[in-house]
Amino acid sequence: MVKVLINGYGSIGKRVADAIEMQKDMEVIGVTKTRPNFEAKMAIEKGYKLYAAIPERKSLFEESGIEIEGSIFDVIEEADIVVDCTPGGVGKDNLEVYKKYNVKAILQGGEKAHYVEDNFNSLWSYDRCYGKDYIRTVSCNTTGLCRILYAINSVTEILKARVVLIRRGADPNDIKKGPINAIVPNPPTVPSHHGPDVGSVIPEFNGKIVTSAIIVPTTLMHMHSLMVETSGTTREAIIEGIEKTPRIFTVSAEEGLNSTATIIEYARDLGRNRYDLNEIPVWEESINVVDNEVFLMQAVHQESDVVPENIDCIRSMLQLVDDNMKSIEMTNKAMGLLK
Ligand SMILES: NC(=O)c1ccc[n+]([C@@H]2O[C@H](COP(=O)([O-])OP(=O)(O)OC[C@H]3O[C@@H](n4cnc5c(N)ncnc54)[C@H](OP(=O)(O)O)[C@@H]3O)[C@@H](O)[C@H]2O)c1
Repeated sequence: MVKVLINGYGSIGKRVADAIEMQKDMEVIGVTKTRPNFEAKMAIEKGYKLYAAIPERKSLFEESGIEIEGSIFDVIEEADIVVDCTPGGVGKDNLEVYKKYNVKAILQGGEKAHYVEDNFNSLWSYDRCYGKDYIRTVSCNTTGLCRILYAINSVTEILKARVVLIRRGADPNDIKKGPINAIVPNPPTVPSHHGPDVGSVIPEFNGKIVTSAIIVPTTLMHMHSLMVETSGTTREAIIEGIEKTPRIFTVSAEEGLNSTATIIEYARDLGRNRYDLNEIPVWEESINVVDNEVFLMQAVHQESDVVPENIDCIRSMLQLVDDNMKSIEMTNKAMGLLK
């Protein structure tokens, strides 16, 4: 059992912790928080050992009656790997700490691609990240794009892709971000950073994928509208490519899965913890091929699609399983994913 420390027990950290606990080859040796809030209490109730992410804050926990085991520095040397799930920008500073303590670490998508040795997606860069020390699991949007591009690439040659990303304004627990009543070009410049981010995982697509992004007042999911020029394909071939690719599947608007709201209802009906949909749903009706150009729309559950990727990333960096598809299968089975 490899020992994993989760630094930052928020939206991503708590999900990654729970997913690790479902696996047979890894365990969580501790989680960190900066504040003694309800999440800190719940972490302990779930059986996780809680540590203060910042040593000076230990007294805050003691004063609020939450028993912690110490600070991150009391546990970091026991860890085989740290999964850093701190807010975007904090992971960069933490990287220096991980290097000082000579412990492997995974950063998340809020950090820049060039801080680390390489950028991870289970389908595309498992082998490249194998045995490496410092890796970034790419963002929710980049993960969603990597999966659909893998599916298309498995049945035809991709010449160029254009993607419009319609991004959720905030996560459901976030009361500070917006917009509340607006549509915001974000970034207002085109192309957005999402295309180059895909290039950090799939270098051969550098310059071939152009993205623009807008933010809308919703919290449930992101949505992507893709236009992909290929050397030649059919609608049936694209559907087959999606069917063969792990963690992506088609949904039918005709059957009632006609919006992000009903897709989240579907995840609830599946009995998913926190209504997570780790897989990417692609609207079957949206898939079309016109003059060798593929059109389709997909949704991304921003809080959960990166979670199984973090599990595979641990296996790759710690050289636990040498075949990405084997790791994907192990993770999917343990988490009860759809395929
Ligand atoms: N949410 C998403 O949709 C999403 C999707 C994909 C990737 N990501 C990326 O995942 C990372 C984490 O995002 P998130 O949404 O999980 O953030 P989050 O919900 O704000 O959680 C961040 C956690 O880090 C803790 N923290 C804050 N400052 C810290 C510090 N200095 N040291 C250690 N822990 C600290 C916070 O603890 P306290 O509450 O105790 O302060 C909180 O538990 C970011 O890079 C983000 O870009 C997010």
